[in-house]
Amino acid sequence: MPFQPAARVASFGASVFTEITELAARHQAIDLSTGFPNTDGPAIAKAAVNAAIEAGHNQYALSHGVRELRQAVAAHARRFYQQVVNPETEITITNGAAEALHSIADGLINPGDEVIIFEPFYEVYAPNVLMAGGRPRFVPLRPPDWRFDPDELATAFNKQTRAILVNTPHNPTGKVFSRVELEMIAGLCQQWNVFAITDEVYEHIVFDGIEHVRLAQLPGMAERTLTVSSLSKTFSFTGWRIGWVIGPPDLTAAVRLAHQFVLDCSATPLQYGAAAVLATEKNYYHHLAADYQAKRDYLAAALAEVGLEVSLPAGAYFIMAGIKSLGFDDDFAFCKYLAAEVGVAAIPPSAFYSAPHKSLGQSYVRFAFCKTMDTLERARERLLKIKNR
Ligand SMILES: Cc1ncc(COP(=O)(O)O)c(C=O)c1O
Repeated sequence: MPFQPAARVASFGASVFTEITELAARHQAIDLSTGFPNTDGPAIAKAAVNAAIEAGHNQYALSHGVRELRQAVAAHARRFYQQVVNPETEITITNGAAEALHSIADGLINPGDEVIIFEPFYEVYAPNVLMAGGRPRFVPLRPPDWRFDPDELATAFNKQTRAILVNTPHNPTGKVFSRVELEMIAGLCQQWNVFAITDEVYEHIVFDGIEHVRLAQLPGMAERTLTVSSLSKTFSFTGWRIGWVIGPPDLTAAVRLAHQFVLDCSATPLQYGAAAVLATEKNYYHHLAADYQAKRDYLAAALAEVGLEVSLPAGAYFIMAGIKSLGFDDDFAFCKYLAAEVGVAAIPPSAFYSAPHKSLGQSYVRFAFCKTMDTLERARERLLKIKNR
């Protein structure tokens, strides 16, 4: 008799990325599905890791992270958001944002607690809440402009609500939550004594001069917000698995209680690399956004050229394109066609919705533009086949 998975994970299907990666490999499709760049991040970070290894920083670090990196995270928060945080009691270094989100759920969610999650969502959110025994409560962002209905959000809050999770800039829609929207969320958090978790991994990838607002900076929110970010998207080192959580001492203490037994600590030399690169010139951040904006514009034009419905994302590095105009109404069927007949891999976004709301994502497809220009140009050549089909 084969062993069965534990009840708390038995309902989890395989990630949509596994399915699409297999599909892409079978058809040698150009990968516009995965949310990681096909180039490395800054050399200064690699040099700092090598130097850390040579300097003997090769043993376990403090569970909540090496002091140099916590200080660099605090300096970054001050530099970009005028946010003053104590690296000793308010910052925890994690194994990427993904582990941060897991340790937050483990450290703070009790069985029966509800956590409000906007959908479409980054895949790990609901499983983390469920593994902690909590209940995800979904509020949809509705196309075409991915707004939430304020009344729907307000009615999602109740006595069981423990937390709300806000991802801005948002994967997969590219939405950047406005100050007004965040003020509404802040008001509800305070009314219901709920804490907020913000996933800000795309904080430096915002376009057209739009402002990324940090929820923790709104009045009354510093004491009830855990801000999660990481090296992955800003510095193109998704495989290093370095992330962090910033939050007030009480919330941080709870996260650390879980984190110490989930992970022990992140890789020590990589933490030194992260500390070095976080202090990099302001220009780096400016170039990052400008470079991605050019790629966004190129891919958006290519998708529009072949008949997909495109609106430009305000942040992150994905385009949600409408497929109805091509006569498709099933995103999985479209992605299979795209990989097999066109030779380009993309993600069916209905995978990022709860069962009752899957139809909201079914007439879209998610393309990632965090790839080299050469890759995007080769993808465009192939996409032209859609036009000529
Ligand atoms: C919204 C969002 N949060 C978190 C992550 C994961 O970040 P990390 O690599 O730091 O775990 C991703 C990766 O795609 C993401 O899109």
